[in-house]
Formats: sequence, structure tokens, C-alpha cells
Amino acid sequence: MIKIIMNGCNGKMGQVITRLVSEDPDCEIVAGFDINTAVPNTYPVYTDPDDFTGEADVLIDFSHPSSLAKVLDFCKRTKLPAVIATTGFDSEQRESINKAAEDTAVFFSANMSLGINLITDLAKKAAKLLEGSFDIEIIEKHHNQKIDAPSGTALMIADAIADTLSFEPEYVYDRHSQRKKRSKTEIGLHAVRGGTITGEHEVIFAGNDEVIEIKHSAASKEVFAVGAIKAAKFLADKPAGMYSMKDIIDSL
Ligand SMILES: NC(=O)c1ccc[n+]([C@@H]2O[C@H](COP(=O)([O-])OP(=O)(O)OC[C@H]3O[C@@H](n4cnc5c(N)ncnc54)[C@H](O)[C@@H]3O)[C@@H](O)[C@H]2O)c1
Repeated sequence: MIKIIMNGCNGKMGQVITRLVSEDPDCEIVAGFDINTAVPNTYPVYTDPDDFTGEADVLIDFSHPSSLAKVLDFCKRTKLPAVIATTGFDSEQRESINKAAEDTAVFFSANMSLGINLITDLAKKAAKLLEGSFDIEIIEKHHNQKIDAPSGTALMIADAIADTLSFEPEYVYDRHSQRKKRSKTEIGLHAVRGGTITGEHEVIFAGNDEVIEIKHSAASKEVFAVGAIKAAKFLADKPAGMYSMKDIIDSL
């Protein structure tokens, strides 16, 4: 039985994971961390990770970037593997996640859905093949409550594509601010916000007289929760190091 600590347990994702884990015979949540303690749970909830003195095998984090430093300190000190799923980190915070992987196992993905990781892989392959002759644009759509833009997933896809290109692309977020033609070295990133859209990501490769579109739609938050629980089970017995969804896909 894998013992999980849920950071951000009283948020939307924390509660979906709480429900899914309660139906899973292979794991249990032994504690939650959250600054909001107003939600009733079957496990104890701590506002300060340092108050937890029990045993755990892995931590899942779906919370807020402001929580990162405290959670990484806790995981490094206790050598607890951590699945970090929160988005909206700045470059310094991204660096601190990489640094924590020197002390404990860290799984980081801005999108925990297996489907998104698959289309990222497809987009990388397409970018390599089409480099130079196709313009690349990424459009993401989310519900009207989302604060960060573009989404962490859109940036994750752009970074993966950038890694495969032979030049460093320029990310262009706002075509409104400049009146000029598109350059060949751009990746355009566009955010749409409205209603209750769970999450859509589309990569467009636009060439001369042909357009290729690779698209993923998530119909519920459960796809991210299922992926995060899979990641937690995968990570629980791993040595220090950085892991991603690619490691899970390769292990299947
Ligand atoms: N990687 C993925 O696949 C994926 C999927 C969905 C959401 N997310 C990200 O996960 C995060 C949480 O999403 P959500 O929809 O559950 O948000 P939410 O706002 O519903 O929940 C966030 C929870 O974190 C708690 N929290 C805030 N600051 C905290 C702190 N300093 N310490 C401890 N707890 C704190 C809040 O009280 C709340 O209960 C967001 O960053 C979101 O973008 C990632």
C-alpha cells in the first residue's frame, strides 16, 4: 500500500485525487497539506508540512507556486519522492525543482495526462520533419477561472518543440503589440479563456497550401488526476533524480 501526502488537498484537483485514491486498493492518502483547512477529509490536514511526523512514500502537489519552497524543503529533508503538478512557476522555481532532484526523486510535468504527453511527442516528430517550411502556432483554451496564460502545458509543448529545432525559436504571445509580418523563427502561443473548458491544446503546422493540426481535448480533470496517481506509484520507490511522463511511457 503506497502512502501518499496530498499537497493542495482541498483544491479542485486535490479533491479529485482524494476521491480516486479512496477507490484504489493499492494506495491511500495519509495526510494533506493546505492553507485552507475548511474541507472535511478522512485524513489529517496540516497548514505547515513540518507539523507532519508520520510515514509516507510519496507526495503529490497540485497547489500554488507560493507553496513550492516549503514543499521542496520538506521533501528534501525527509527524502520523500515528489510528484509536482502545479503550474505557473518562474524560472528560479523551475531551477529549484531541478536542484531538489539531487536529494530525492522528483516527477515534474505541467500536464499529467498521458494523451498530452503523446501529442507532445508527435509534435516534436512533426517539428523535426517540417522545420524551415512550416510555421508553428500553439492555441490553448481553458475555463474562465484560470489565472496563468499561456498554460504551463502550452509552454511545455513549445519547449519540447524548441528542443528539436536546429535554431532557438522566439515565443510570440501578443501579435497586437507589434505590426509586422511573422518571422520563420517564431512559435506563436495563444490563450483563449471562457466558460468551463477543462483544457484544449492544439499545435498547428502551417505550410504552403497545407496545414497539419495535432489536438488534445480533456473532458474532465480526472485525466490529470489519473496520470498523477500513476506517476506517484511509479515514483514511490525511485532513487533521487528527475523523472517525467516519458519515463512512465518508456517503462510500459
Ligand atoms: N500538471 C497538470 O496536469 C495539472 C492539471 C490541472 C491543474 N494543474 C495545476 O495544479 C494547480 C492546482 O489546481 P486546482 O485546479 O486544484 O487549483 P485550486 O485553486 O482549486 O486548488 C489549489 C489548492 O492549493 C491550496 N494552496 C494555495 N496556496 C497554498 C500554499 N502556499 N500551501 C498549501 N496549499 C496552498 C489552496 O488552498 C487550494 O486548496 C494549479 O497550478 C493548476 O494549474 C496542473
